[in-house]
Amino acid sequence: MTGPAHDPDDRPQIDPVTGYETTGHDWGGIKELNTPFPKIVLWPMILAILYSVVAWILLPAWPVGRDYTRGLLGLDQQAEAVAGLRRLDAGREDWMARFAGSGDKAPDLAALAADPQLMARAMPAAHRLFLDNCAACHGTAGSGGPGFPALDDADWLWGGDPATIAQTVTAGINAPDPDTRQAQMPAFDWMPRADRQALAGYVAALPAGKADPASAAGKLFEDNCVACHGEGGAGGLMVGAPSLTDASVIYGQDAATVYATISHGRQGVMPAWSGRLSPEQINLLSVYVAGLARQAEGAGQ
Ligand code: HEC
Ligand code: HEC
Repeated sequence: MTGPAHDPDDRPQIDPVTGYETTGHDWGGIKELNTPFPKIVLWPMILAILYSVVAWILLPAWPVGRDYTRGLLGLDQQAEAVAGLRRLDAGREDWMARFAGSGDKAPDLAALAADPQLMARAMPAAHRLFLDNCAACHGTAGSGGPGFPALDDADWLWGGDPATIAQTVTAGINAPDPDTRQAQMPAFDWMPRADRQALAGYVAALPAGKADPASAAGKLFEDNCVACHGEGGAGGLMVGAPSLTDASVIYGQDAATVYATISHGRQGVMPAWSGRLSPEQINLLSVYVAGLARQAEGAGQ
C-alpha cells in the first residue's frame, strides 16, 4: 500500500514558514499544513444547509413514489399557471368573440376598428399574431422587402379596407386555395429585346413623372400594360397589378429589375391562412393591417 509516510515520531509539527501546524503526514518530503477551513466559506455553507431544511419543510420537495411532499405552505405552481391562463383566456374571449361576427354574418370590421376601448385590448394581441405569422415575409413593422409588398402604405394590390384584407389573408394570392386571388404578371419574352429595354426605361421613369406617354415606349406601354396596370400605370386593383407610378414597389423599379420583370413575368405567392388561423384571428389581423397604413399616413402628414 502506498500512502503518505509518517514522521518517525508521527506528531504534528509547527511549520516554520507559516506558523501553522502540519498534519504530521510526509508526502515524500512535502508536508501538509493543517490549515483551518476558512470561515468565510463555512458560514454560507451552514446557512445554505439551514435554508434547504426550512425549504424542505415549507415547499414541495421530496418525491414519494409517484407523488411528492407538498410542504406546509401548500404551493402548487402548476395549478397557479393553469388558473392564470384560464383567467387570461376568459378575459380575451369576451372581446375576441366580437371579431367572430354572429352566425354567417361577418362582423362590421370598420365599426370594431372605431371602438377605442376594444382596440386598446385587441391590438397588442394582433401585433403578436402579426409577429408570429406575417413578419417573416412582411417585416416586423409590415414595411415589406424585396418580393414582399409593404402593408404600411396606402398602395394596395387588392385593397386596404379590413374586409378586403381579410379576404386576401383568408384565401391567399396565387395560393393552392380554391378561392385564392390570382396575380399574374405575364412574361413578355416574345417582345423584341430593344422594346423590352425601352419599356424598362419608361417604367423606371414613371414614379418621377419623367416618362413621356407620347414616346415610342409610351405607346408600347399603352398597348401592352395599361389593360392590367391601369391608365398611366396607376394600378389595377381588380387583377392585383401594382401601381407603377409611386415609390412603393414589390420587386424594384430600377430599369434592370423592371427588365427582368417584363422578360420573365412575376407571380408572387401569399399563403392562404384559412386553415391555419381562425376567422376571428384573421379579422383581428385585418383590422390591425388596415391600421398600419392609417398610422403611416398619419405620420406622413
Ligand atoms: C411566405 C411569405 C408571406 C407570409 C408569411 C405572409 N405574406 Fe402576405 N403577402 C406575401 C406576398 C409575396 C404578397 C404579394 C403577392 C403578390 O405578389 O401578388 C403578399 C400580399 C399580402 C397582402 C395584399 C396586400 C395588398 O396590397 O393588397 C396582404 C393584405 C397580406 N399579404 C397580409 C398578410 C398577413 C396579415 C399575413 C400574416 C397572417 C401575411 N400576409 C403573411 C407573402 C407573405
Ligand atoms: C395580365 C395583367 C398584366 C399585364 C398585361 C402586365 N402586368 Fe405587370 N404585373 C401584373 C401583376 C398581377 C403584377 C404583380 C405580380 C406579383 O405581385 O407577383 C405585375 C407586376 C409588375 C411589375 C412589378 C412592380 C413592382 O412593384 O415591383 C412591373 C414593373 C410590371 N408589372 C410591369 C409591367 C409592364 C411594363 C407591362 C407591359 C409590358 C406589364 N407589367 C403588363 C399584371 C400585369
